[in-house]
Amino acid sequence: MSDPVIRIENLRKSYGPVVALDGISLEVKQGEIFGLLGPNGAGKTTTVKILTTLVRPDGGKAEVAGTDVLSDPAKVRSLVGYVPQELTVDPYLTAQEHLSYYADLYHLPAASRETRIQEALALVGLAGLEDRRARHLSGGTKKKLDLACGLIHRPPVIVLDEPSLGLDVQVRRDVWNYIVRLKERGTTLFLCTNYMDEAERLCDEVAIIDRGKIVAMGSPAALRSQLKRDVVSVEIASANEHHGESLESLEKAVSQLSMVQRSVKDGTRLKIYVESNDAALPKIIEAAASVGISVQSITYSRPGLDDVFLHYAGRAFSAGGESGG
Ligand SMILES: Nc1ncnc2c1ncn2[C@@H]1O[C@H](COP(=O)(O)OP(=O)(O)O)[C@@H](O)[C@H]1O
Ligand SMILES: [Mg+2]
Repeated sequence: MSDPVIRIENLRKSYGPVVALDGISLEVKQGEIFGLLGPNGAGKTTTVKILTTLVRPDGGKAEVAGTDVLSDPAKVRSLVGYVPQELTVDPYLTAQEHLSYYADLYHLPAASRETRIQEALALVGLAGLEDRRARHLSGGTKKKLDLACGLIHRPPVIVLDEPSLGLDVQVRRDVWNYIVRLKERGTTLFLCTNYMDEAERLCDEVAIIDRGKIVAMGSPAALRSQLKRDVVSVEIASANEHHGESLESLEKAVSQLSMVQRSVKDGTRLKIYVESNDAALPKIIEAAASVGISVQSITYSRPGLDDVFLHYAGRAFSAGGESGG
């Protein structure tokens, strides 16, 4: 086994009274796409800012290819390409000028500059748009330019902070394709996301982070199968303005059923975790009827990463975030 490309050990960081990272540890293997998945405010950006040497940790260790971020930050920066969460393009510069700027920043030799720039443009589908000023590019195209800037020096490790945030469906697909292409070239990718589908689709390994702590880690398939349960989701009639109370009484009623492991309220729905759908569905419908609740819809599925989050973080992913309490 080769050594991990990224090694993080008991990493801690506070901003005044806010504990952003409460001792996280993880390892990323050569050539994999590693996902850091969590709601807003979980600590994802803090982690990648430490990995890219932009923020100093308070404690613990972070290494890229065996180099500590604190002892040799310049070396770490040469190994890591970084595409930040917010767009960094300058509206008045052309695509070509952006890439030239980054080529300088990373001290690319003059001989290979032009090739690298064309290569980066081609990879993100921007060939032909090099002379266009960024302000005349669409939001999605600006994001692609950002990606191109982060990989111009062909770094062995690329860190992407929420690369598809706010992008429309087509551009999102494109961005996913670039990420897969980078992996095929042997690049190791560290991807922060709060999209479950993005993590499921792209990542070989996922660490789920919540309030500065890693609550679960493994491949998406392994995380899902660990739960060993099915999920029944009951939606109650939305016209009912007392749906809060109805959900309460439904929850109480189903908690009496032996096959119910756990239930969680999620908006107008009650998610019920059961050993097996087949046996549980009729019993749940019966239980709803017995407390006079009219069911709008009832669906069932195998658990997804949102259910993994719910299981380990103890609350719904959609209710997460900084105001999630
Ligand atoms: N520069 C900062 N000053 C104060 N608090 C910060 C700063 N950066 C992040 N935080 C806080 O640290 C926590 C983690 O933030 P962040 O790492 O940005 O999370 P994420 O990227 O997962 O949304 C949040 O509570 C956030 O408000
Ligand atoms: Mg962030």
